[in-house]
Amino acid sequence: MYAINMEQNKKELNIPDEIKIFDTTLRDGEQAPGIALTVDEKIKIAQRLDELGVNVIEMGFPTVSSGERKAAREMVSLGFSSELCGLARVVQKDIDALIDSDLSYAHLFIGTSPLHRDYKLKKSKTEILSQSMEMVEYAKDHGLKVEFSAEDATRTELNYLIEFYKGVESAGADIINVPDTVGILVPSTTRTLIRTLRKKINLPISLHFHNDFGLAVSNSLIGIEEGANQAHCTINGIGERAGNTSLEELVVSLKIAYGANLTVDTTKLYDTSNFIGSITGIKMPPTKPIVGDNAFAHESGIHVDGILKNSSTYEPIAPEIVGHKRRIALGKHTGHAAIKSKLEEFNIEVTQKQFDNIYNQVKTLGDKGKCLTDDDLRSIAITEIGTSGK
Ligand code: KIV
Ligand code: ZN
Repeated sequence: MYAINMEQNKKELNIPDEIKIFDTTLRDGEQAPGIALTVDEKIKIAQRLDELGVNVIEMGFPTVSSGERKAAREMVSLGFSSELCGLARVVQKDIDALIDSDLSYAHLFIGTSPLHRDYKLKKSKTEILSQSMEMVEYAKDHGLKVEFSAEDATRTELNYLIEFYKGVESAGADIINVPDTVGILVPSTTRTLIRTLRKKINLPISLHFHNDFGLAVSNSLIGIEEGANQAHCTINGIGERAGNTSLEELVVSLKIAYGANLTVDTTKLYDTSNFIGSITGIKMPPTKPIVGDNAFAHESGIHVDGILKNSSTYEPIAPEIVGHKRRIALGKHTGHAAIKSKLEEFNIEVTQKQFDNIYNQVKTLGDKGKCLTDDDLRSIAITEIGTSGK
């Protein structure tokens, strides 16, 4: 068996038939230090997200500015296939701002952990729950779909967290969201938490995981294995501090390794990532999985030889699946196969002696710390032919 055995994984893991991708690039993503988007930029991004096929676009936080509300209204008027959602605290003013923005999907939140209760909100458990239930009822009375987040859920006492979610469920919430606000979950604690909530709560469960320890994608996968129906993510994983679950990594893992049925068109991932990188100014490192410059690049002689014989030898998936391209890089580790294939691609014919000289020059430059481009190789080859032909 050469490929990832997704059918087997799907059977063994028993993941939900439908998993929704809730994109929060325009809300948590925009909260990343250094990002500030204009109304026009937000609309352009929302259009790309809709084309990408995400189920929900969290467009922003309508109460914070008139620009946010204007952006929301324009997005609603564009009639996307993705649902449009806005963030709101459990205060009437925030919910009214959402209604005033023509949105019909509210993401309500309040801190539930001792840290948030005692230091930030200075409210008791009972006060927090009753305020939340009242505001769920208010939002439902105004015809909104309600997703409810217990902010800092993962540092909230489990008994209170369950009581809290049951409370908002009885008040009419449609879905509960579990934020790992400071990214402290690891796969095993995620498994236990989501398994417990799954048994106690009858609503669909959504995940909102931060990446402080680099575990947001893994934790989201575990949460989905335990029956979560939706995951929040952002393009390129941008968001507060170390960011959120990276959409491209989660989507590809779910589709390819788990065989999950998602509405996201993976062939648009690379372009969407670059678009978000250029509009936000936050570029991805070359090693970024799926969309980084090196994600499908090969230099070492052994790898390139394998790739040229069968690309699956050193690639988990074909780059076309995510709209990316394979790249053969040239440098110290380059072998004969790469140079031969490049020269064929350039339509340059050489004798064995010329080939050896070209190969040696590539190695010498590599030893001097140079990474060669295709143009470098082409000019080395042309010079070699010219020199040795004289
Ligand atoms: O990380 C978080 O807790 C949030 C909430 C607003 C859901 O972004
Ligand atoms: Zn967050």
